[in-house]
Amino acid sequence: MLRSVAVTRLITQLGFFVCVVLVMSTHAVAGQINPLIYDEQLLWVGRGAGQVNTYRIPVLTFTARGSLLAFAEARKQSSSDIGAKFIAMRRSTDRGATWSPTSFIVDDGSLADGLNLGSVVVDEEKKSVMLIYSLCFHRYHCSPSSTMLIESLDDGLSWSAPRNLSVQLGVKSFAPGPGFGIQKRYPPAKGRLVVCGHGSIPGDGVFCILSDDHGSSWHYGAALKSIPYNQPKKSLDFNPDESQPVELQDGSIVINVRNNNNYHCRCRLVVRSFDGGESLPVEELVFDQELVDPAVAAGALQKEGVLYFTNPANSQQRINLTLRWSLTDGRSWEKEAVQIWAGPSGYSSMTSLKTDYPEDKKYIYVIYEKGHKNYCETISFAKIHLFGGQ
Ligand SMILES: *[C@@H]1O[C@H](CO)[C@@H](O)[C@H](O)[C@H]1NC(C)=O
Ligand SMILES: *[C@@H]1O[C@H](CO)[C@@H](O)[C@H](O)[C@H]1NC(C)=O
Repeated sequence: MLRSVAVTRLITQLGFFVCVVLVMSTHAVAGQINPLIYDEQLLWVGRGAGQVNTYRIPVLTFTARGSLLAFAEARKQSSSDIGAKFIAMRRSTDRGATWSPTSFIVDDGSLADGLNLGSVVVDEEKKSVMLIYSLCFHRYHCSPSSTMLIESLDDGLSWSAPRNLSVQLGVKSFAPGPGFGIQKRYPPAKGRLVVCGHGSIPGDGVFCILSDDHGSSWHYGAALKSIPYNQPKKSLDFNPDESQPVELQDGSIVINVRNNNNYHCRCRLVVRSFDGGESLPVEELVFDQELVDPAVAAGALQKEGVLYFTNPANSQQRINLTLRWSLTDGRSWEKEAVQIWAGPSGYSSMTSLKTDYPEDKKYIYVIYEKGHKNYCETISFAKIHLFGGQ
């Protein structure tokens, strides 16, 4: 009896000791975060050879087989959001060291209001990569809008013909991302694909589309509507726009949103879904005053319990592309931010590889619009070592 009490006490003490060590080691890892720009290269330069005037709207993803795929809109005639475009893609199978030549995987021809990117989403079970984009989003000399999907089952080497999701979803204007959609890794709705984007009048605000069958069928889930809904906006109205969802380790989805008309602050909107993207309760809406923003599409990523965020950290202009990180799921941000580019910089997106290879724990990858005079001169890829190159 006595012995068993002693043994129990010993086990309890050991258990406590193990817990303390575990907590210390988690904190030790978080404390070591010291991002270093390990490599950077320009993937696209506008007004260069041939058919493309401007590359914009960079999107980046991992694949289930450990490659990186970079995408951008290749705007044929001008830098305008409207007009004819290609979707440009480059692929890296060596963790961003070298990249394939550009392939144009979608060509919208000579449409007045062509394609707009878009969200990439990886189904890790099916080993598929899907890219969802809009056609005729602005309904400029065209009607209706369509939401389109292409899919690759061979790690980005070849792509399916475009599939028209509007047959199921309807023809509401829906501009996904830009950035990535997620596949839920934790309950609720483990395995679900969640892609969020924004609408336009009629139907403005943030909306998510969901698929529970690996992208075969899609339906509308959560919405965060604008105020006044479906009416022209004034400065300072509530106008949630481009967005990036991430899944936290508790299974909730946090969506970081462009506050387009600077409602309440010149900062980011953050909203959270606890039901796998079915709803975005307004009670959970936060204005993150620390994330000062000029109204732009920003990057967010959750890796190993750390939340990362990139944007041009300036309240007025698209300059000062900055990487921040949070050890508290975004409730607070670490004081040391890393400036990736002081000059003109616009949209950004992040990814990281999720293989068992230990090196993949050390890096995140950022793609962003970068320039000297104007942020839309080039698209740059930066490989970030999270632990100061150690
Ligand atoms: C997509 O489907 C919708 C609904 O059927 C249709 O109105 C629209 O024209 C289609 N878009 C394209 C590009 O085929
Ligand atoms: C750049 O971002 C950092 C981090 O938020 C901020 O302290 C600094 O004032 C910004 N600089 C400019 C010029 O916006």
